[in-house]
Amino acid sequence: MENLSRRKALSLGVALGLVGVATPRAWASTGSAATAAAGTGPEWIWDDLADPLMVRMLEGGHVPAINKAWASWVNNNDPLPTGLPADFTAYLQQVNRLPSWADQAKLDRAADFNRRRDTYLFMLYGLGSGIMSTVIPREAKSVYWSAGGADMQDRAAKTFTFGYDLSELGAFKPTGQFVVTANKTRVVHATVRHLLPRSPHWRAVADESVPISAADILVTFHSLGTYVHRKLLDWKIPYPAADQEAFLHSWQVAIHLLGVPYEHIPKTWAEAEAQSARVLTPILTPSTEGIALAEDLLGLTAQVDLGVTRGFLNEFVRYVLSNEVGDWLGLKRDYAAAALVRTAWPAFILFREGLSPVMPGTFYMFDQFVRALAMLFLNKGSSGTTTPITIPTGNRAA
Ligand code: HEM
Repeated sequence: MENLSRRKALSLGVALGLVGVATPRAWASTGSAATAAAGTGPEWIWDDLADPLMVRMLEGGHVPAINKAWASWVNNNDPLPTGLPADFTAYLQQVNRLPSWADQAKLDRAADFNRRRDTYLFMLYGLGSGIMSTVIPREAKSVYWSAGGADMQDRAAKTFTFGYDLSELGAFKPTGQFVVTANKTRVVHATVRHLLPRSPHWRAVADESVPISAADILVTFHSLGTYVHRKLLDWKIPYPAADQEAFLHSWQVAIHLLGVPYEHIPKTWAEAEAQSARVLTPILTPSTEGIALAEDLLGLTAQVDLGVTRGFLNEFVRYVLSNEVGDWLGLKRDYAAAALVRTAWPAFILFREGLSPVMPGTFYMFDQFVRALAMLFLNKGSSGTTTPITIPTGNRAA
């Protein structure tokens, strides 16, 4: 059995480009957390600052007022929302800043890299990471049974707000928005840690008693940053070492702002990839909740014209995530589209990157597809507004 799941993890790891050998004591052998003993690794860390605060905010009935007050708190240099409980304001004063180790030159370069590579990033985050999140069982179950799970388009748009604010030029500068978005997200996660354990539906399917540990956040980081990093390399997209370092740095700061202690944040891409192979690849598996979420996410396309069929979309997901994941999620096969994706996508990249003078006949189709996907998530299809992040006060009913 052990060998079988090891083999499964290896073959899936190869397909996803996240190769490595799964060890049973995944976190204990993590480079950055090499000293972690049982009970002290990131799977035992939640958020000592935000979690107790949000219990008090929920129990004191303050959440609706906070949601209202922080709606206009958007830019990093906006004044903190006023009129809120003193301990909430004190918490924000403490965390609403970049860590001392943040390197503004690297963050600037990351923003520029994000701008130059935005089409690939949006489609890899959207179709790769977005659908991968549905086969990360803990994430799928908590997203499905939290309040936001009932409206996946809204929820996907909010998650995209995170990616978009992270990718914006000047995201970490005073006029950017990322520090605020990350702080709001940290508070939402803290709230969910209190709410979900009160959901009988979540409790019936969960293998943990409190969701969203630091380890879970690192797993999700690997499904986003580490996965995208690997795909850009695999697709041979020009990606110089300074861009790689800057991209990693922006994620290190992001994970810090989400409350993960510094010692558990991977310091290099090599360390991130090794950790990902240990803690992400082996746990990927389908769940009832994940299958429903994937169908919701892919069904969003029914509302906009991406210039491609659902069969093409299914095959693109299979291309970026493997047939194994496609089979788990029951994505119907379209063999003609599969052949097209596998041959024409690499040709599209070569031409787009100026690495081949031959424009593939399918260039405009792919071009429309990548642009429409980015717009779909950024603009929620057509409304054109950024979705505000709000703190939930309950769970999904059923
Ligand atoms: C909420 C991003 C890790 C579960 C959110 C929101 C964002 C976000 C932007 C706010 C969206 C909203 O208002 O609904 C991220 C990022 C992560 C991460 C960037 C890691 C790098 C995780 C993990 C889990 C998780 C590991 C669970 C295992 C949830 C849930 C919500 C949420 C349940 C609340 C949904 C709702 O009811 O509205 N996350 N998240 N997140 N996240 Fe995360």
